[in-house]
Parts: sequence; C-alpha cells; structure tokens
Amino acid sequence: MDFAHIVPSSNAPSAWLDMEALDHNINLVNQKTQAVNLRLATKSIRSIDVLHYIKDNSPNYVGLMSYAADESVFLLENGFDNILCAYPTLDKDSVAQTFSYTDKGAKMVWMVDRPEHVEILNQVAKDHAVIVEICLDINMSMPLPKLYFGSKRSALMSKKDVKALLKIIKKCPQVKLTSVMGYEAQIAGLAEHVPGKTLLTPAIRLLKHRSKKQVSQRRNSIVAWLKKQDYALELVNGGGSGSMDFTSSQAEVTEITVGSAYYKPAYFDYMETMQEFKPAAGFVLPVTRHPEKGVITCHGGGFIASGAVGADKIPVVHYPKYLSILADEGFGEVQTPMAIDKRATAINIGDFVWCRHAKAGELNEHFNELVCYRQSGSITIAHASKDKKGLKTMMTYRGAGQCFH
Ligand SMILES: Cc1ncc(COP(=O)(O)O)c(C=O)c1O
Repeated sequence: MDFAHIVPSSNAPSAWLDMEALDHNINLVNQKTQAVNLRLATKSIRSIDVLHYIKDNSPNYVGLMSYAADESVFLLENGFDNILCAYPTLDKDSVAQTFSYTDKGAKMVWMVDRPEHVEILNQVAKDHAVIVEICLDINMSMPLPKLYFGSKRSALMSKKDVKALLKIIKKCPQVKLTSVMGYEAQIAGLAEHVPGKTLLTPAIRLLKHRSKKQVSQRRNSIVAWLKKQDYALELVNGGGSGSMDFTSSQAEVTEITVGSAYYKPAYFDYMETMQEFKPAAGFVLPVTRHPEKGVITCHGGGFIASGAVGADKIPVVHYPKYLSILADEGFGEVQTPMAIDKRATAINIGDFVWCRHAKAGELNEHFNELVCYRQSGSITIAHASKDKKGLKTMMTYRGAGQCFH
C-alpha cells in the first residue's frame, strides 16, 4: 500500500487493513499448506467479516480454532459450523448453548488435557443428554535441564500421560475422543531475531532444529498408538503461522491452524519463516501536537501486546520512515510523542503516522472496525459495511459488542 498517498478515513485513530497485502498472505498460506486442511485461528483475526473473507478465498479451509466457549457460541451464531475450541473451558453454560447447533449437524470439539476438563464436559453433556467431542492437547514442548523450550499448557506429554487420561475418558460415556492437537508453539510462534536479543539467534535456531525432530516423533507415535487402540481420529491438528512448511509436511497431521500470518503483525517480522508475508493490518494515528523542533505528538497509540514484557511487544512505526519512539514515554495511553530524524520528510499537525501492532488479533480489541484500503480496483467483500466516507470496513469482535477471553 502506498501510504504516502492514502488519506485515512478519519482524523481520529483508526485501524487499517491493506487488502492487497491480505490477499497476498492468503495466497501464500494456501500455497504453503496445500497438503493439509486449513483451520483459522480466530484469536489472531477477531473479526467475523475477515474470517468469512479468508474462508471464501481458501480452498482447503475446513473450520475455525476458537479460543473460548462463549466465543464458539458467537461463531456458530454467525454461520460457522466446524469449530475446535483450543483451550480447555470450565464455562458450562456456553458449552450447553452450542448443543442446539451440534444437534443440527455443526461440529464442535473441546480441548482436554486433565481429568477435570473431561469430567465437566461429561456432566454438561449428561445434563442435556448429548455426546460431546473432545480433543487431546499433546504438549509439544522440549524440556531441557535449565530451559523449558516451549509453552506450559498441557499436562499430556508422554504416552503414559495419555494412557492415564484415557482411563478417565473411558469412564465418561457422554464424551467421545475424536481428535488430537499437538501445537509446536516454540517452532510456530517464537522469533529468532527479537530486538535487543540478537545474541540468542543461533541458540534459538539450534533449539528449533532439535525440537522439530522431537515434535515429529512424539506427535506421530502418540497418534499411531491411539489409532492402534481403535480410536478413529477425525482430525490431527498442529502448527501455526511460523511453522507452515514444517507442520504441513508431517505425515500424522491432517490439518494446520493459521491466524497471525494473515495480518502479519510486527512480532512476525522477527521470524525467519515469515519473511515473504506482507504487513496487512495496523493502526493510523493523527499528528495533533508539535511540542518542540524535531518532535511530533500523535493522538492515541498505547496498544501494547501480551506476553513476556519486552521491546518486541510494542508497536512499530510503519510509515513515514525515520520516526522513533521516545524511550521515556513509549506508546502512550492517549498520546505518543515521536522524534523526527533529519532524514524524514516534513511532518505537520494534521498528517498521519501508520503503525503496526506487535500481535495480530489484539489490534482489534482497540477498534470497532478495520478500514479496508485497496489501491487497484474496487474491493469485493461479501460481508463488509461502509463508513461515512464510503470506504469499506470490516467489523471487529469489539465493533460487534463482543469481548471474549
Ligand atoms: C493452539 C494453537 N494453535 C495454533 C496457534 C497459531 O496461531 P497463529 O497462526 O496466530 O500464530 C496458536 C497460537 O497461539 C495456538 O495457541
């Protein structure tokens, strides 16, 4: 997108979606994942309109990976009919609300890794005289003597752990084991080139390499063993944006989950496998103040990403070039001062600074809509609305009055 020639739809901060970059990213995901089915990670998209848009343009689309039970209900209400809720839930009411959709044929699968998860699902299902589908979350981390390379989520790492949980599952007649997920977070979601931590790059590369071997072995052998025990697995899910080539090539995997690759937020700039993807979403701030020579101040900006605190969690200035954030103030709650380097073109009150969030879906928690820009041709978006200036917009979860955790 040629930011120099685009005037944002509003003089207030707003969120942007570059449709040409989004199309580029959709095509690239489709190319890289063609060997398997594609599931969209809703937490990294957080817009029903965008989910529909990606779905309509992805031949191998099979369904969504949701992040909460009440969100799953919202997705079913909005016409999606194949959902894997990837994080265990204790929200019985929302689980129960999905039954009117599964009764009519929608597929809804719940994640488990502990007896408590299974027992709760079994109880809700019993109360409503239905069967619920469950998925085992296999922990794909690589624990080393002084370093845990991976994410601490699931309690299931070995066949022994799985066997112990299966004993509980067998005692719960209202649940049916149909799926397995093995998400290799340390390969798919960890960047090699984090600002200020470049000394770690060779170690991260080496650990990723070693970890891939372990992931292949563990996921494959657990899936093979379950099949031998006569579990007819309908799906084996793996991967994420940063591991598309690796995960799609794994024999046991039937589907890959992808989310962040579509918006390509700033954190993914630091990841080696993501270099062909284009930044497709962000926010634009109006310059409202000029406190001194060489400094401008924008309205808004304080959209910091979740995760371990660090330089990789703050937004980045995307356009114009040669602006830098003041270390003492950072991206502020309602105002963000920026230093202008001598190489920058003149910036005045009323101009705009285009920025990108460090993570994908979190951007949408701050805006009601994404304003869609396309430089060549009109935008055909089945589900888009229009703003006051006639620009197409896609509503975010927040714009739909929804807030899920
Ligand atoms: C279970 C699971 N699968 C897949 C992903 C990949 O998502 P993304 O493509 O947005 O990195 C994530 C992200 O955290 C996840 O938690």
